[in-house]
Amino acid sequence: MHDPTVFRSMHFERFHGEPAIFVAPGRVNLIGEHTDYAEGFVMPVAINFATLAGISPRSDGKIVVYSENFREERTFEAAALPVKRSGHWSDYPMGVVHVLAGEGHRIPGFSLSLWGDVPLGSGLSSSASVEVATALAVESLVGASYPGPVLARLCQRAENHFVGASSGIMDQFISVNGKENHALLLDCRDLSFQLAPIPDRVALVIANTMVKHSVAGGDYTTRRAEAEEACHILACHRPEIRFLRDATLDDLDKWGDEIPPNARKRAKHIITENQRTVAAAKALLNSDLHELGRLMAEAHWSYSHDFEASCVEADAMVNLAQDLPGLIGARLTGGGFGGCTINLVEQKAAGTFAEALGGRYAAQIGIVPEIHICHASGGAHHYA
Ligand code: GLA
Repeated sequence: MHDPTVFRSMHFERFHGEPAIFVAPGRVNLIGEHTDYAEGFVMPVAINFATLAGISPRSDGKIVVYSENFREERTFEAAALPVKRSGHWSDYPMGVVHVLAGEGHRIPGFSLSLWGDVPLGSGLSSSASVEVATALAVESLVGASYPGPVLARLCQRAENHFVGASSGIMDQFISVNGKENHALLLDCRDLSFQLAPIPDRVALVIANTMVKHSVAGGDYTTRRAEAEEACHILACHRPEIRFLRDATLDDLDKWGDEIPPNARKRAKHIITENQRTVAAAKALLNSDLHELGRLMAEAHWSYSHDFEASCVEADAMVNLAQDLPGLIGARLTGGGFGGCTINLVEQKAAGTFAEALGGRYAAQIGIVPEIHICHASGGAHHYA
């Protein structure tokens, strides 16, 4: 199904309409975890796993959404759009439709087919890629054309308010704005960004622990609430601290005693992670891969010990990579509590690295992992 021409005929056979096709990538985050909703910094990369959305108009006033992954179809009335989630996969595309309707667009009937190869629930932003592909598709139908950062915000709103996951802006932003062969340092305060080329000699090796993660799940929300609690206490002393982005380790030293221990650790992670992320972008821009790898190792330690968002399997996947030839840096990526690790690896060693890591993980954990050698792809677009 990688071939969009197969996807096109699948849509045509089902709906008897010629689809316009849009593609939106998943992402892997090199560094900067749980910093986006604290208005901090992240450095993700769009990857060559994506969602395809095919859309064609209908004249019966219905919205029919089909997922080839789930082999399931759902029908809605364009004149009576759902106003709240149903706990079904269709919440992701319908959340986007709901948000676009809220922006004042009259939503006509349409058929939408979705198919994607972003592994689900693995911390590679399958949901953002569905939202962004749907947004581009529906946008084309209603004749709208939002600038990339605005489109990303609309998709985030669908996820926050319709799907009910309290995620930040990172995933939707990189899916819209990613650039081939580049990582993107994003300032989540004002959505300004800087692209950093990924050298040819570096491969992105993504290792799936096969432990499922969910942003809609309770752990993500608990961590976020703890971070916000810490921020609130610091802000009582220094009102200019609106988000943890504005706080320093000095602030934590001065007023940390007033913060419950867990919340204090979460804040420490976010404050130090922001510093590491900016430093990592600088290292990548200077081709200082040694420094980049060191910062990734520190970030993993902080994610695991201060933020406590890792798990036995992810820690094992990171540890088992450490002495393999070619490794530049490894850490757990995404929302945490499972999912994938990102390993930056010397390109020429990537194949043997992937094989050795998979073997070691299977022997230690008893689960055969999926390991992908990926590259940095472009952002979402109309498939010509
Ligand atoms: C998930 C969320 C993002 C971000 C990461 C953690 O992917 O969707 O907004 O918070 O977790 O960095």
